[in-house]
Amino acid sequence: MALDETLNVARSNEARPLVEVRGLRRSFDLSKPWLNRLIERSGRVSLTAVDGVDFSIREGETYALVGESGSGKSTIARMVVGLLPPSAGSVEIDGTDVWGKKSPDQERRMRRKIQMIFQDPFASLNPRWRVGAIIAEPIKAFGLIADASDRAERVGELLSLVGLDPRDGQKFPHEFSGGQRQRIAIARALASDPKFIVCDEPTSALDVSVQAQVLNLLRDLQQRLGLTYLFISHNLAVVRHVATRVGVLYLGRLVEEAPAAELFAAPQHPYTKMLLEAVPDIDMEGKERLAIAGEIPNPVTPPPGCHFHPRCPARLSGCDRDIPMPQHVGNATVRCHLFDPR
Ligand SMILES: Nc1ncnc2c1ncn2[C@@H]1O[C@H](COP(=O)(O)OP(=O)(O)OP(=O)(O)O)[C@@H](O)[C@H]1O
Ligand SMILES: [Mg+2]
Repeated sequence: MALDETLNVARSNEARPLVEVRGLRRSFDLSKPWLNRLIERSGRVSLTAVDGVDFSIREGETYALVGESGSGKSTIARMVVGLLPPSAGSVEIDGTDVWGKKSPDQERRMRRKIQMIFQDPFASLNPRWRVGAIIAEPIKAFGLIADASDRAERVGELLSLVGLDPRDGQKFPHEFSGGQRQRIAIARALASDPKFIVCDEPTSALDVSVQAQVLNLLRDLQQRLGLTYLFISHNLAVVRHVATRVGVLYLGRLVEEAPAAELFAAPQHPYTKMLLEAVPDIDMEGKERLAIAGEIPNPVTPPPGCHFHPRCPARLSGCDRDIPMPQHVGNATVRCHLFDPR
């Protein structure tokens, strides 16, 4: 390839997002069985956990999704990595449609590029396997290293990479602390040489002191290996540490999205402002400030119009009727009637 062409390819890769999520929706049917419905004369009940979510993530970025419990974060994560089929919308990762039809070979190549780290590192590690076998499993499953001693060497490298001792491969998960177990889960995620990792509340179950270590490790690995993250958290103090861009989720809809520095410096949506007001000081001095006012409504019967209007201090007259459309405010995209063009 000529140099010009190489440069053009490099430039177009830079511009093209690695992850593209478009119009993602997911509903769950909560209806009782048909016969019960007939006897009780009740209808079908469904819950829309994710309601038309769009975002994209560029290579090497950390896109943080924040929102209160039940806002749909994990449901989005599961659809993005291919664990839960969407009701509508699409997910494209590195040019591959995650939910499109694929040959088994294409499917394997895609799965190898995408990994997930969960909140509870104990539940996600098989307690009866030695750590070495746990980390070697993806290497075997994807047929990456056939020779057993080469594979053991790679497992040792991965353990060192996450700050553990290569000899730790001989031990069982219960012999480690929570933070170390999360390191093991990270080593296993890295074993298939992924490009994109979805971290669903990866530090929420850990002590504050250990949280910072795991976050630093994730950031360090990102720089060394050029990883792209979708980072899910309900904790804005944590997000501030790691995010390049932030999407704020409320009852299944993104209400604001902006580069992290701008979102923290100048939040636009009343809900984002409320969340930021409630964050203890970022240096963790623990000064709890305003609690978040009101409770999340029942997602089975969400408020009409803007989902946030019953809790919103800046509510206007049409907010309980019209769903706000996305508006650009500087570098942010905000869904709030305050920003509707006149
Ligand atoms: N399999 C399911 N069946 C029915 N409802 C579900 C299912 N999975 C999720 N939900 C509902 O969808 C909504 C979003 O759930 P989700 O787990 O995505 O939220 P979350 O933002 O990850 O919350 P948390 O911070 O508590 O982890 C919730 O109301 C939840 O009860
Ligand atoms: Mg969750």
